[in-house]
Amino acid sequence: MTTRESLRPTASGLADADAGFGVYIHWPFCLAKCPYCDFNSHVRAEPVDEERFVAAFKTEIAHRAALTRGREARSIFFGGGTPSLMKPQTVQSLIDAVAAAWPLAADAEITLEANPTSVEAGRFRGYRAAGVNRLSIGVQALDDADLKALGRRHDVAEAVEAVKTAAAIFPRTSFDLIYARPGQTEAAWRAELTRAMAMAGEHLSIYQLTIEPDTIFERLWRAGKLATPDEELGRALFDATQEIAEAHGLPAYEVSNHARPGAECRHNLVYWRYGEYVGIGPGAHGRILGRDGRRAQATEKHPEMWLTQVESEGHGLIENSLLSAEEQGDEFLLMGLRLREGVDSTRFAALSGRTLRRRQIDDLVAEGFIEEDALGHIRVTSMGAPLLDSVVADLAA
Ligand SMILES: C[S@@+](CC[C@H](N)C(=O)[O-])C[C@H]1O[C@@H](n2cnc3c(N)ncnc32)[C@H](O)[C@@H]1O
Ligand code: SF4
Repeated sequence: MTTRESLRPTASGLADADAGFGVYIHWPFCLAKCPYCDFNSHVRAEPVDEERFVAAFKTEIAHRAALTRGREARSIFFGGGTPSLMKPQTVQSLIDAVAAAWPLAADAEITLEANPTSVEAGRFRGYRAAGVNRLSIGVQALDDADLKALGRRHDVAEAVEAVKTAAAIFPRTSFDLIYARPGQTEAAWRAELTRAMAMAGEHLSIYQLTIEPDTIFERLWRAGKLATPDEELGRALFDATQEIAEAHGLPAYEVSNHARPGAECRHNLVYWRYGEYVGIGPGAHGRILGRDGRRAQATEKHPEMWLTQVESEGHGLIENSLLSAEEQGDEFLLMGLRLREGVDSTRFAALSGRTLRRRQIDDLVAEGFIEEDALGHIRVTSMGAPLLDSVVADLAA
């Protein structure tokens, strides 16, 4: 079901709504802060008042539902932070609240991110009973020393067990790995990834370690105490990742995401295909089509400040701004070119009000960084993929 606004056709005849509508719910707490992580995650000495947070989440769900009437929710994604710290009843009541606010598609994908400690694995059955049908597990490494260096609270044996438990309970599972870790060699990564492939189901997220601002890793790195792979080794690790994943039937459908065709994460596809989504909870982002155009929304990041704002104002939004045509075009390229399927240049024109420059396209094609088909679809090649940011900047210029 769609609204009048979201049925507005693009030049290609497709409606923006075809990219889907999803609901993101952010649980902002973790047991400890990992030294590489800059997600909106917080550690609390005292137990979190889950009931109070649930009430605020529900308030925010009702607020966003009023702004997006008539949409059908095709996906719900519980991200974090560590959503597997939530009680299964909490997850249940939030799924119920979403289903009461929007029609929920019969085959809606409901994902929850879980950390693979044995305590959390003990809650997996409860999440399944609550309606979660896809679990995404933060394994990160299959090497105990590296897990320790990453500040993780689980070891390899626990992670392997959690992946097995999840596969027996959920129809769909995925796990995350981080490569290009300090001191990692190509041979070690090849062996580790091959082992991971043997454990994997139909989806894997494989991220290259990024040194994020204001993290402990950044401080160590600046002080010369953290040796991450140089550009050449980084490239070799990326190439090895593509080769091994493809050989095991899990090609990349996005820069860091691999799946058997058909098993892609539908919720994340909504972002990359520049669809509509609402962000519920502290530090969550949304993109919705209002009567006056596409809006960028973001909520207060600090959990307790978000809570008090929702309790007093009925929502946690600190940003709710109209995007200019130019901004929409830039975002569309930035998101869509992450996908192996690429972007439709006619939809770019409809969103941005301008066409991509022929000269830029021809130059990037000639350099082997992008490909273009007769219908004006553009996609980044495997040669261009490691240089995605500069390819996007060139195209958007
Ligand atoms: C929201 S986070 C984590 C979810 C869950 N709390 C966990 O740690 O397993 C999602 C994923 O982002 C990846 N990630 C986080 N920080 C990263 C970084 N600095 N570089 C690369 N990947 C990162 C990790 O693989 C992580 O599982
Ligand atoms: S990586 Fe996961 S567990 Fe670690 S701090 Fe970030 S969100 Fe929390």
